[in-house]
Order: sequence, then C-alpha cells, then structure tokens
Amino acid sequence: MEGWISSLTLLCLVLSGVGAIQVVIPELVYEYARGDNITLPCTFTPKPGPAPSLVIVSWSVEGLEADAEELLILTHYSTGTTDITQIYEGRVSVAVDIPTGKANLKLSSITLADNKNFKCRVQIPGDDEGRPLDTARLVVLVAPSTPICKIQGKAEYGQNINLTCVSEEGSPPPTYSWESRDVRNMPRVRDPRTTDKGGILSLYNISKDTSGFYTCTSRNKIRAATCNITLAVMPPSMNIGSTAGIIAAVAGLLVILIIIIYCCCCRKKKEDEEYAMGVREEEYHDKEPNGKSRRAEDARSPDDSSVRSPDDRFDDRRSKDYDDRRSDYDDRRKDYDDRRSDYDDRRSDLDDRRDRYSDRNERYDDNRHYDDERRYNDQRDRRYDDDDRYDEPYDDRNRDRPPVPNNKPARRDYHD
Ligand SMILES: *[C@@H]1O[C@H](CO)[C@@H](O)[C@H](O)[C@H]1NC(C)=O
Ligand SMILES: *[C@@H]1O[C@H](CO)[C@@H](O)[C@H](O)[C@H]1NC(C)=O
Ligand SMILES: *[C@@H]1O[C@H](CO)[C@@H](O)[C@H](O)[C@H]1NC(C)=O
Ligand SMILES: *[C@@H]1O[C@H](CO)[C@@H](O)[C@H](O)[C@H]1NC(C)=O
Repeated sequence: MEGWISSLTLLCLVLSGVGAIQVVIPELVYEYARGDNITLPCTFTPKPGPAPSLVIVSWSVEGLEADAEELLILTHYSTGTTDITQIYEGRVSVAVDIPTGKANLKLSSITLADNKNFKCRVQIPGDDEGRPLDTARLVVLVAPSTPICKIQGKAEYGQNINLTCVSEEGSPPPTYSWESRDVRNMPRVRDPRTTDKGGILSLYNISKDTSGFYTCTSRNKIRAATCNITLAVMPPSMNIGSTAGIIAAVAGLLVILIIIIYCCCCRKKKEDEEYAMGVREEEYHDKEPNGKSRRAEDARSPDDSSVRSPDDRFDDRRSKDYDDRRSDYDDRRKDYDDRRSDYDDRRSDLDDRRDRYSDRNERYDDNRHYDDERRYNDQRDRRYDDDDRYDEPYDDRNRDRPPVPNNKPARRDYHD
C-alpha cells in the first residue's frame, strides 16, 4: 500500500511536474458492529520539499441522503490544538503524525447514527494542488431485532391479504423472506400470484388451502431472526354465522329450559292435587301427618272412625282385592276371635284396629298368605306412605288410646 501510494505520488509528481498533496483512506467501506471502538485510517503525503510549517487535519461526516450536509467532527492543527464539535465531544479523537503522514480518526461506542460517509481532509499552506481529501463509508451493523408478523386484511375466502414482517432494528436493513407450511406442517407450492417484497407477502383470492403456518425470516450479514403466524382462512359468513349461531343456540336452550321447568312445576302441582284427592276419596286417614293431632281428633269425635270403616275405605279398583282378602280374613275370623279373648283388656281398642282393618289385614297377608302377597304388594307400594303413617299411630293407640265404647255396634257387627 505504502509503496503504491509512493508510486502514485511519484506519478503525480511526474505528471504535474510540481508537488501536490495526496490524502488517502485505504478502504471504501468499513463495517463494524454497533458499540465497537473503531479507528478510521487516513494517510497524507505532502508535496516534496521541506517539511510543512503547518498541517491542518479535519474529519467531517456526511449523511447518506442525497442532500445531506457535511458536518465537521474535529479539526487538528499541527501546532497542537484539536477542536472537536460539541456533539462528538468525548467520543472522538485523532491520531496525527506528520512525518509518517498519519491522520487516523478514533471513534468509540459507535451507534447507528454513525452510519455515514466520513471525510478526511488535510490542508497544508502552499500545497493545495492534488487531492486534499478522501471519503469512506462507515457501516454500523446491527443484528435484526425479532420481526413482528401481522395479517393485513380479512382472512376470509376470496380475499386478498398481506402478511407483513418488520424488524424494528437491523443494520444494514434486513432482508425478509416468507416461508409457509400447510396445516399438516408440510412445505407447500406457492400460488404463482403470491408476491414477497420487502417483508410483505401478498396472497390473492385466499381459500381454505391458504391456511397454515407462515414464518418470516429477517436477515442481515450479522444474524437472522424469525417470527411466525398462523393463518386460518374462514368462509365469509363464518364469523357472523358462528356468532349468531351461538346466540341462537343459547337463546333456544334457555327457552327449552324454561319450558321444562314450567312443565315440571305444573306436573308436580297436579300430582299433589291428585294425591290429595285420592286420599280424601279413600278416607284412609286425615292428610294430617301429625299423629298427635289426629289422635286428638279421633278422641274428640270417635264417630269419625265409622266413616273410615273398611268398606268405605276402598275404591273400586281395590274393592275386589279387598273382598278376596276379606273372605280370607273372615275364614280366619274365628281363630282371630278366639285369640281376641286373650286380649280382653285391649278389646275396646279392637274397633280402632278394625278401623285400620285393611292395614292389619295387610300384615296378616304378609305373614300368612304369600299367594296374595304379590298382588298385595302392588297396593302396598301404592299405599306405601299410608302404611308408614299407619304403623306409627297404631302403636301409639295400642298404648295410650282410650276405650271407645261408641263403636261397639260396629264391633258387634264385625263379630257376627
Ligand atoms: C470502548 O471504549 C470505552 C472507553 O472509551 C470502553 O469503556 C469500552 O469498553 C470500549 N468498548 C469496546 C467494545 O472495546
Ligand atoms: C397489500 O400490499 C399491497 C402492496 O404493498 C397493497 O397495494 C395492498 O393494498 C395491500 N393489501 C391489503 C389488504 O393491505
Ligand atoms: C378464487 O378462487 C376460486 C376457487 O378457489 C375461484 O372459483 C374464483 O374464480 C377465484 N376468483 C378469482 C377472482 O380469481
Ligand atoms: C412460532 O413462534 C413461536 C414464538 O413466537 C415459537 O415458540 C414457535 O416455535 C414458532 N413456531 C414455528 C413453527 O416456527
């Protein structure tokens, strides 16, 4: 290099015939990463002759735009003074050595703002011919930041959409490329109309087949970074349709639910009424579940028991069964009566027991007549509540029920 410059200088000298200064920055472009401390080299060769009495070295910078203005960084005088422009104060210095023709610029912690053209100029009084300045480009490199992938447009059948990819940082500016895979994650053949320019992937007349994974790679000479996006192309009506469908479905469910609840309530009410009516018809006993009050009522009006005589207690449905059982019962009545004599002290209670004849009969059937049991069980199931209710007051009555002589005629009738 030195030799080349020397020969060039010599050539110049030869050509011009007179001495002329030559300033050279060896490279056209210098690339460094952001944050580096760098040195931009610059050499100068004054015209031959005695050493110059004064040498002025200046570095300036010029933006990349066409109409960019040149900005002075520093000026160094061979007298020993260096003037540094305020914005570069603290981070630049110049290393000048006049005998060897060195005028290097040192720049620390370079940033993207240093991404400019740098000019080295050497002024020597009386030596203004030749080439007093040279320029070099400083490229500050920055790895691309993770790009941001976006969808522009509606992802619906038949639409044209753009997939965009931008890295906020990256110097030199990253180049972008899109890759796509289908929903099964297989690479796919790209539609010929698709374009991929400057990070914008334009998709035309998209369809279900356009759906899939799209990956953008942002790359410069330092590094590469990627982003990806999942594209799900829907039928045009789908979005509105699905929303409306959901609303309709929810509304429908609500209506059905209300109807069901309403029906259940009505049915329950009706059943309750029917049940009450049935009990009243059969006069099985009061609807009053409280045995105590029932006993009180019985004591108050013993005649009520006649109302509950067995014949009245059964509806048509049951009367046949009842009669059958009754005949069974009548057959056994003698045995029963015999045993009754053993219960003399409880005789007066018998009427009451007769009032509950059917229930007791059920017990007898349970114990002795398995033939009847099945048929009877059906009834028992139907009368389950009544059974339960009966058992309770029956035991009570046996214990504390007062004698009821008023019912004697009924009892006599029974004995016959
Ligand atoms: C650059 O120089 C500064 C001091 O001027 C120093 O603190 C920093 O560590 C240096 N950076 C590198 C990358 O050498
Ligand atoms: C997609 O990008 C192209 C070119 O940049 C533009 O003309 C078009 O309007 C964009 N389309 C959408 C949906 O953004
Ligand atoms: C879009 O694609 C569908 C088939 O996917 C085709 O029928 C239709 O003609 C296309 N429309 C345009 C404008 O290319
Ligand atoms: C897509 O990006 C996410 C993070 O943004 C990453 O976790 C995932 O692995 C990527 N998938 C593909 C297929 O690149």
